[in-house]
Amino acid sequence: MPSPALAALEGRGIGKVFGSGDLAVRALHPTDVAVYRREVLVIMGPSGSGKTTLISILGLVLTPTEGEVLVEGKRVAGASADALAQLRRDRVGLIFQQFNLLAGLSALENVALPLLLRGESAKDRAAHARRALDLVAMGDKVGAKARLLSGGQQQRVAIARALVADAAVLLCDEPTASLDGRTGRDVLDTLARLAREQDRAVVIVTHDDRVLRIADRLIHVEDGRATEEAPSDLRSRRTA
Ligand SMILES: Nc1ncnc2c1ncn2[C@@H]1O[C@H](COP(=O)(O)OP(=O)(O)OP(=O)(O)O)[C@@H](O)[C@H]1O
Ligand SMILES: [Mg+2]
Repeated sequence: MPSPALAALEGRGIGKVFGSGDLAVRALHPTDVAVYRREVLVIMGPSGSGKTTLISILGLVLTPTEGEVLVEGKRVAGASADALAQLRRDRVGLIFQQFNLLAGLSALENVALPLLLRGESAKDRAAHARRALDLVAMGDKVGAKARLLSGGQQQRVAIARALVADAAVLLCDEPTASLDGRTGRDVLDTLARLAREQDRAVVIVTHDDRVLRIADRLIHVEDGRATEEAPSDLRSRRTA
């Protein structure tokens, strides 16, 4: 399995307590996790076990109460608000439960949005967004308004939007949850292809056993404790 020395994204001892005093909830015990390019890391576990908390810390949208996150070997802690916003925008692509597309904009406009924030010209934005939509097999729907697309199509537009930013890491929370079997499979195949052919690191939080088919590594989370399964266990679960 490819494991280049430098992790695309790394959490060292990252943990999270929500609230304080009597109301404090320990959502995640201090955990080490590293994510490498070209691999698909799957995170599974029961509802409320801490999966979204873990992936949100890695995605720089939630600040850990313990530990630190490194993006391509560089510490995030201490970065200015501007620097953090830029890292979030350019380095990590988030594909979360709610698609977060702008319903009234076309697929192309949704995908081009991060590029507008980055100051690209209209011509470059259109070309880059089109290429990303081609990659997720949405090239024939560039002009369609987001609200008129199916759930799976919207999910693929969200993947394309994460891609245009050229993020090294794609973090997906339940990418197949609202999709039918076939569309779910297409989205998973797309994510696997992006890892293998485009050198991205892909992290997928899921309840869906079918995702194991494309998993290189599996982390199980239970009561806020994350443990990585041995490769042999993953292989036997995959064929089960
Ligand atoms: N903003 C918050 N404030 C307080 N507690 C929270 C917050 N977010 C999550 N929690 C708590 O932290 C724990 C872990 O939540 P998390 O959302 O990470 O679980 P999950 O594994 O993603 O669950 P699911 O599979 O249902 O999405 C839960 O007990 C939850 O109630
Ligand atoms: Mg969750």
